[in-house]
Amino acid sequence: QAGVQAAGQHHRPLVVAHRGASAYAPENTLAAIDKADEMGFRWVENDVQRTKDGVLVIVHDDNLKRTTNVEEVFPDRAPWKVKDFTYKEIAKLDAGSWFSPAYKGARVPTLTQYMNRVSHNHQRLVLEIKKPELYPGIERDTLRVLRKTGWLDRHHVKHKLVVQSFSADSVRTVHDLRPDVKTGFLGTPAASELPKYTEFADQINSTHTSITADYVARIHQLKGAHGKPLEIFTWTVDEAAAARRVAGFGVDGIITNKPDVVRAALRD
Ligand code: G3P
Ligand code: CA
Repeated sequence: QAGVQAAGQHHRPLVVAHRGASAYAPENTLAAIDKADEMGFRWVENDVQRTKDGVLVIVHDDNLKRTTNVEEVFPDRAPWKVKDFTYKEIAKLDAGSWFSPAYKGARVPTLTQYMNRVSHNHQRLVLEIKKPELYPGIERDTLRVLRKTGWLDRHHVKHKLVVQSFSADSVRTVHDLRPDVKTGFLGTPAASELPKYTEFADQINSTHTSITADYVARIHQLKGAHGKPLEIFTWTVDEAAAARRVAGFGVDGIITNKPDVVRAALRD
């Protein structure tokens, strides 16, 4: 799969495994990206946050309740926020059993562990900075780990990496710190507002229920922060009919918990 798809070319969209292949393995674990890899998917999406002692970890919610056994291990630590635990504490948690006993013992990975596994699998990554308002400076911290794990070299930034966030400020910060890194803004700004996002974003990544063919066409008329056509990766598309609908709009990427369902739908 090509890393960048020019607007106006009717290539199939990239299929991106959301939180890893999260319908089939516990989200945001190494097992979930390994599952995506086994299923033949190059692109994965994941969420990064920060522990009390400054370690970047891959986890979606701002608390650990839903996807770990934190309440059992630390019963007195409500509301179990990621930012209130050290990494040593988080490393004790089981992040797999909630999903299936088959994944008992899966851990919350650090961003470093995560990037090393994505590299090992030769995968490509849409990395979401989650709730950056809770973690001042997380953009710089994230870029530091990406640099140390080899993800800011020319090849990686050109072909393998997108950093996205629902926070326009956070996306702008990433762009300002490392203008070579491809970035995405999560949301569906009014069409008239899109040009201002192109100052710092290469993608507008919107919920699939919020977009139309006209909106996608408008995105493709604009140029992103790197002077290439603005792109759109849409989420979270788990049904064949929805995948065909957005593919018909010409989206550049489809983010899905069920990448096999989307792949089959696009082949039909
Ligand atoms: O990549 C898009 C999607 O991940 C954003 O929503 O809540 O799943 O992180 P969420
Ligand atoms: Ca996400």
